[in-house]
Amino acid sequence: MDLAVVERLQDAARKVAANAYAPYSRFRVGAALLFDDGFVATGCNVENMSYGLTSCAERNALFNAIGERGASHKIVAIAVTNLNAAASPPCGACRQVMSEFVAPDAIVSFPSDNGLELRPFRELFPFTFHLKVQ
Ligand code: THU
Repeated sequence: MDLAVVERLQDAARKVAANAYAPYSRFRVGAALLFDDGFVATGCNVENMSYGLTSCAERNALFNAIGERGASHKIVAIAVTNLNAAASPPCGACRQVMSEFVAPDAIVSFPSDNGLELRPFRELFPFTFHLKVQ
């Protein structure tokens, strides 16, 4: 994957993180998803005072995209960032949800303790659960 594409997605994720509603954790996350037809979806985290109903940036980006245009396109790159200068790989719940819509070779970029990390999705989420519908 072209590094310029990763940078462009990281910029989009950083921009949307500014819209995060995170008064409880103050951790502002942004995600940008690149689809196989070039479409980019973005999302930020939206917290709730019940805490448990908080919705992550990655899932919000994905649900935005599906709501806008259906689920026929695969994600080919995922960018996650935050405005807190902290590490933030996508959480396990978001990995499970995104696994249904992602190409296994999709590149996931996120801030780690050692700077920006790039990993293929299949490395972050191996042995994926697949429901065999009868
Ligand atoms: N958060 C995300 O938006 N994405 C993740 O992958 C991990 C966590 C949000 C949820 C909550 O609003 C805040 O970060 C602190 O956990």
